[in-house]
Amino acid sequence: MKLLVKTFHGLEGVLSDELKELGARNVVPQKRAVSFEGDKELLYRANLHLRTALRILAPVLSFRARNENELYEKIFDYDWSRHLDNSKTFAIDSVVFGNVFKHSKYVALKTKDAIADQFRKRTGARPSVNVEEPDVNINVHVSGDRITVSLDSSGESLHRRGYRDGRHKAPLNEVLAAGMLKIAGWSPEIPLFDPMCGSGTILLEAAMAARKMPPAWYREKFSFMSWPDYDDSLWQKIRREAGEKIESPRVNIVGADISMQAIDIAKQASLEFRLNREIKLSKGAFEKQEPPFKAGMIIMNPPYGERLKKDNIIEFYRTIGNVLKHRFTGFDAWIISSNFQAMKNIGLKPSEKYTLYNGPLESKFWKFKLYEGTMKIKPQRITNR
Ligand SMILES: C[S@@+](CC[C@H](N)C(=O)[O-])C[C@H]1O[C@@H](n2cnc3c(N)ncnc32)[C@H](O)[C@@H]1O
Repeated sequence: MKLLVKTFHGLEGVLSDELKELGARNVVPQKRAVSFEGDKELLYRANLHLRTALRILAPVLSFRARNENELYEKIFDYDWSRHLDNSKTFAIDSVVFGNVFKHSKYVALKTKDAIADQFRKRTGARPSVNVEEPDVNINVHVSGDRITVSLDSSGESLHRRGYRDGRHKAPLNEVLAAGMLKIAGWSPEIPLFDPMCGSGTILLEAAMAARKMPPAWYREKFSFMSWPDYDDSLWQKIRREAGEKIESPRVNIVGADISMQAIDIAKQASLEFRLNREIKLSKGAFEKQEPPFKAGMIIMNPPYGERLKKDNIIEFYRTIGNVLKHRFTGFDAWIISSNFQAMKNIGLKPSEKYTLYNGPLESKFWKFKLYEGTMKIKPQRITNR
């Protein structure tokens, strides 16, 4: 069957690599998504193992429609008893591009009506809508007059690993952090340092990857479990196999933050996910930071400056550049920030540049190779600007 994995802009390449490693066929990167072919087993595996996926859709119906009535008719004519019955709840999620349809909420409403009316006509009753925790999630994608209706196999977005407690004000999205580690080429043999770790997302994603712990290891519910063809013994087999592969390697994953509250949040998350042996955390200001090892990789996400005056944030990024240059020789440093002006003031020449999105926030992800004379280095590879 043909499947589609949604992700963030800029992560299509690393997501394609992940899919190929899982054995997916016909892997084709698209805009903020990757399509592939696979069977039910691969669909389950993908939901458990993909670190850079937001959700996995299984298209069931595609057609052209020029208005809401045509959309209603086509959806009414499809046999929804293949996926739903009156004992199950459902919800519609819709996205609209182009100018044939204007309102995504109206598209969702028409879809809901068509499905409910079909059941009512056939059985005299209808499945209920539950927007919070539906059994069956239906996704409608509209691009001009092309409509694709899919079942969402994941349900709640896959970025919700379960270690976030919501206390940190500006955390990175988990999927983005996992993608950054992959783009940076980090592997468990490389010592990793995040000197402004906040709630520890980069460190937690690295430690999970190092242990070969699937990102959805602690998640109990996926939407595919409510499908009529759900195969629990297949799912249990996939989980068992994944569990047998979890390791406890020796790794050097270190985080620091100026805020004790942030360190507490990161510690709590690492304890909850049993990653506290892998991740070392301490309170400290980056300006006074000594390297925790001789060489390795830094990945950091400094404040964007919402709470600082413009001049102060520029000065702060300048200081980051100076500290990196003078104290972290031998490291590869990767910085993500949505403050482009501040990024330019780091004062070091990036050797690689990426544009990524932290949710809706466009961000720059730049690499700096730190060795004597870093300032004079010419850009080597500029990708995906
Ligand atoms: C954007 S947040 C990082 C969020 C983190 N990546 C996460 O996923 O939770 C920036 C962090 O930098 C920390 N910070 C600010 N100034 C600092 C400094 N001078 N030294 C170390 N940490 C600092 C803040 O306390 C904050 O937790």
